[in-house]
Amino acid sequence: MGSQAFDAGEFAAELQRIIKATADAVSTEGPVNPLVEKVFGHLGLDPAAVTVVTQEWPSWEHANLQRGVDAYVGERGSAPDWFGIAGAQRSGDDFIGLLANARHGRWYELGTVDYATVAIGPDKSIEAVKLGLVNATAPDGVPVVLCVRGPDMRFGNTQACQLTVLAAERVTATAARERIEELMAEHDVYRGQVLAFGISEHRGNELLTFLPRPHLSAADVVLPDGVLDLIERHTVGIAEHGARLRAAGQHVKRGLLLHGAPGTGKTHTVRYLMGRLPDATVIVISGPAMRLINAASALARRLQPSVVVVEDVDLIAKDRSYSPSGNPLLFSLLDAMDGIGGDADVTFLLTTNRAGELETALADRPGRVDLAVEIPRPDARGRAALLALYSSGLTVTADLEPIVAATAGQTASFIKELLRRAALRAITAHPEQQQVSVDDADLTATLGEMNDAASALTRSLLGAPNGQDSNS
Ligand SMILES: Nc1ncnc2c1ncn2[C@@H]1O[C@H](COP(=O)(O)OP(=O)(O)O)[C@@H](O)[C@H]1O
Ligand SMILES: [Mg+2]
Repeated sequence: MGSQAFDAGEFAAELQRIIKATADAVSTEGPVNPLVEKVFGHLGLDPAAVTVVTQEWPSWEHANLQRGVDAYVGERGSAPDWFGIAGAQRSGDDFIGLLANARHGRWYELGTVDYATVAIGPDKSIEAVKLGLVNATAPDGVPVVLCVRGPDMRFGNTQACQLTVLAAERVTATAARERIEELMAEHDVYRGQVLAFGISEHRGNELLTFLPRPHLSAADVVLPDGVLDLIERHTVGIAEHGARLRAAGQHVKRGLLLHGAPGTGKTHTVRYLMGRLPDATVIVISGPAMRLINAASALARRLQPSVVVVEDVDLIAKDRSYSPSGNPLLFSLLDAMDGIGGDADVTFLLTTNRAGELETALADRPGRVDLAVEIPRPDARGRAALLALYSSGLTVTADLEPIVAATAGQTASFIKELLRRAALRAITAHPEQQQVSVDDADLTATLGEMNDAASALTRSLLGAPNGQDSNS
């Protein structure tokens, strides 16, 4: 035996040659699959040695996932090198299954990226990767492969979007995933938007859609003196002074209930508030989408300052069937309202035509709704203001005083509809006139028609006059 010193460096080099030789031997067994080569060549790994980290998000996070991955690849400095997978069954297999089959020469080949169009605003959308991979590096420079999958709404088999990170070590993959998550939050497409949760009829897919933000002026909202002020103080006012209230030990989370007959302007007031809080994220939820209340309040917490609008909450008060927790939906809502911390700049804005039906539930769980405001039927002054507001585009030759008197007990939306019908009557009678001119006969005849017994259903749809609905 010689006294030969053990040379670690030489040994390592030798080992690498051995591994290389073995790999070559394996790969000469069949043609190298370009897909497998692209992924594992980049990683510098044997397929068996790869670590896989996967995270899923709800379907509506697809745009954010795309934004996060784009920003991540962008900040790594490399030009994004997206590639896809060809093969008919590709949407049914997970990434490791796809790559394993490709490696064994089955079904899948290197292909082009699949895209889906996803909204990032009320009238803006992007192409987001539905199935694709991109070679990148982890924050520490080690190679990773990012595999992106969007929700597959068609087959209802996966409603989630998915990010799979391939790397040699778990810590590497996790670091990349965590950074992408940070970037998703930073580039969140939903921040500051008006959003509505819904459930599509098509296989019950959950949807989150963008709505344009309405911009109404205070003059567009006809309410008795002080009512709009009170509502604004409790919503906009708390938002404006949130920091000082918090510093003074006060809570800023608030719950507001607008109640009154149908057609008095509850939704109208909510729309006005959306414009008064231009930076707030607004999440509108109603009907069967109420079962997504937990997702909605999680979004509200994430995207503060925010407003959760729950329209016609009486409709869910009686519904005992829908909640995933098995509780009546109303209780899920009240729990969600309670679950948000007091220092969160989150407003819950509830509307109802039937406050009476909610009273017990709300009284049993105090603190969720801290202000209830009645949106009343307009008084004579209000009706005159509404007639003026909704006739601003018309020439009115009629004497409005008798109309104000004759519409006592009617709602704002009744008066709006009265003017539309009178305008239509005027246009039909004088199609040649440029300016639409509404006279006494137009208004009186229209009012008679709307008050006619045959129009009872229409009347109740516009908000039945005082004494004819259960609310008054
Ligand atoms: N107080 C109001 N001031 C001005 N317009 C109103 C008012 N109330 C209702 N309207 C008009 O009638 C329409 C229907 O009213 P809406 O707000 O939907 O009633 P609800 O109280 O049932 O939510 C509104 O879009 C708006 O054009
Ligand atoms: Mg409404």
